[in-house]
Amino acid sequence: MCAKIEKDTKPAGDDLYKSLLKGNQKFIADALKIDSEYFTKLAKGQSPPVLWIGCADSRVPANQITNTAPGEIFVHRNIANMVIHSDMNMLSVLDYAVNILKVKHVIVTGHYGCGGVLAAMSNQQFGLIDNWLRHIKDIYRLHSKELDSISNMDERCDRLVEYNVIENVYNLCKTSIVQNAWQTGQPLGVHGWVYSISTGVITDMKVSAYDNANMDNVFRFK
Ligand code: CO
Repeated sequence: MCAKIEKDTKPAGDDLYKSLLKGNQKFIADALKIDSEYFTKLAKGQSPPVLWIGCADSRVPANQITNTAPGEIFVHRNIANMVIHSDMNMLSVLDYAVNILKVKHVIVTGHYGCGGVLAAMSNQQFGLIDNWLRHIKDIYRLHSKELDSISNMDERCDRLVEYNVIENVYNLCKTSIVQNAWQTGQPLGVHGWVYSISTGVITDMKVSAYDNANMDNVFRFK
């Protein structure tokens, strides 16, 4: 019975799955060739200076596109790199990163051509994910005047990608986690970047925040 189920549900291309394990062997060999103590050192602990909040898109891996190594970036990824204030997963990562790891920077990184943002711009239903994408529709509404005036849909999507990053940087600043760090004098920068898959270039949205001075009063915690 079990064997039958396994046969019916086994995806084609099982070699791909096995090739990942072969890739792991190569990764180990390459790392040990450069430093025989590589894994022993890494196992001692982590002290990454950066928390990365990025899109789950397979083409936007935090370490590769910033030329950093394991141990340098603490990573949280979801569809369309969002910071939603009721998302316990994101809040737990943020709390741990800021209060235990004491990261120096939190970076929200979006990417042009983001499928989640494109989907949020349409009137089509995609199922459960519509509830997640609603947050992007809310951001669209905030900037609808400008966005509606962009007739090219790819360009409109890219502008919404930028606004999605900017608004999620603000969302980070609104959390008690980030504001408490600032209150106690813990050095912490919050930044917004957009990555271009077609060129590899990261653009800084220049919305970095280091305190809550410019925040709307209603969001400010004492
Ligand atoms: Co994306």
